[in-house]
Amino acid sequence: MSATPLLEHLRGLIRADGPLTVERYMDIALWHPQWGYYATHSPVGAHGDFVTAPEISQIFGELIGLWLADFWQRSGAPDPVILAELGPGNGTLMTDLLRAAATVPAFRRALRVHLVEASASLRAVQTRTLHDAAPTWHDSPATLPSGPLLLVANEFLDALPIRQFERQADGWHERRVGLDVKNELTFVVDPARITENLPDWPVGSVLERRPAARTLARDLGRRLALQRGAALFIDYGYFPPAPGDTLQAVARHERCDPLRSPGAADLTAHVDFADFGAAATAAGAHAWGPVSQARFLKALGIDIRARRLADGKAAQQQAQIESGHRRLLDETQMGTLFKVLALTGGDAPPPAGFD
Ligand SMILES: C[S@@+](CC[C@H](N)C(=O)[O-])C[C@H]1O[C@@H](n2cnc3c(N)ncnc32)[C@H](O)[C@@H]1O
Repeated sequence: MSATPLLEHLRGLIRADGPLTVERYMDIALWHPQWGYYATHSPVGAHGDFVTAPEISQIFGELIGLWLADFWQRSGAPDPVILAELGPGNGTLMTDLLRAAATVPAFRRALRVHLVEASASLRAVQTRTLHDAAPTWHDSPATLPSGPLLLVANEFLDALPIRQFERQADGWHERRVGLDVKNELTFVVDPARITENLPDWPVGSVLERRPAARTLARDLGRRLALQRGAALFIDYGYFPPAPGDTLQAVARHERCDPLRSPGAADLTAHVDFADFGAAATAAGAHAWGPVSQARFLKALGIDIRARRLADGKAAQQQAQIESGHRRLLDETQMGTLFKVLALTGGDAPPPAGFD
């Protein structure tokens, strides 16, 4: 392992305070203000570390724009309405969805664009790509203005830090990141038994919890129950709950060891959709889905839109549209692993795509 400044910093913390929770490790590796991944990398896109659905095909954002317009019209067309995106990356999803939203002029006029983004370098990218939308930035969803809300988040929840627990013969124990005899980062198991109520899974199982996602679901659930609106989350994850260690690291489009090169690789983990939906429902919202990304996009008409977009284009562009379409829908690529969950409040109409 090469000794990066962040690695030295983590070693110092572990020597001083003992092994770190996986949650704290992820938070430092991603968000350390000087050496964290988001402070030092421009992650999204072919030239970054990973590619997301909006970067693969413009149709992804366009269909979400139409989904929002449809929900807005059927829920009384509130004007103004806050359009918020959590973790907008390069601003591609927002650009595509606003273009589609403009096909319903009254909807486009009603939108007030708000972006929740913690990365200064990605905010700089969004300032360029979303200049015409005149967005307002926020550090957290808590400062979004009150009123009817439409919220979207693609690959946002997977970036929120997780805790991990391991089932041993005497019960559940927290997994932590410590140091081995060679002074390298390694997973260790906290000797203290966890007293909170966790499921009765077999010895050896790993269980993941994501406190920040639960808090977000609870706060959004409360808000949507009191004010009008909908929130759409697209991410990779599992449903129903399942044991397993899903912490993963990606750099330059390749998977790598999550404890190797902290700060130089993106760290994520799969989303527990049941847990997220339950936290929002307990706070008063209605949860829809999750359904697979393929099923959702097909219900929204992706096949027709792809054919129309390819019509009359040069062969190379047609091939690009076709390959993007396949990547979003294919079972072996993003079609099944990626899932879509919507939250709505009060007596909102059923959102499209969740029949
Ligand atoms: C995987 S990228 C997804 C980007 C974009 N949604 C897309 O689909 O291309 C995660 C995004 O969420 C942002 N992000 C992650 N954790 C965050 C947090 N706790 N608060 C605010 N933004 C966060 C990142 O800076 C980045 O913009």
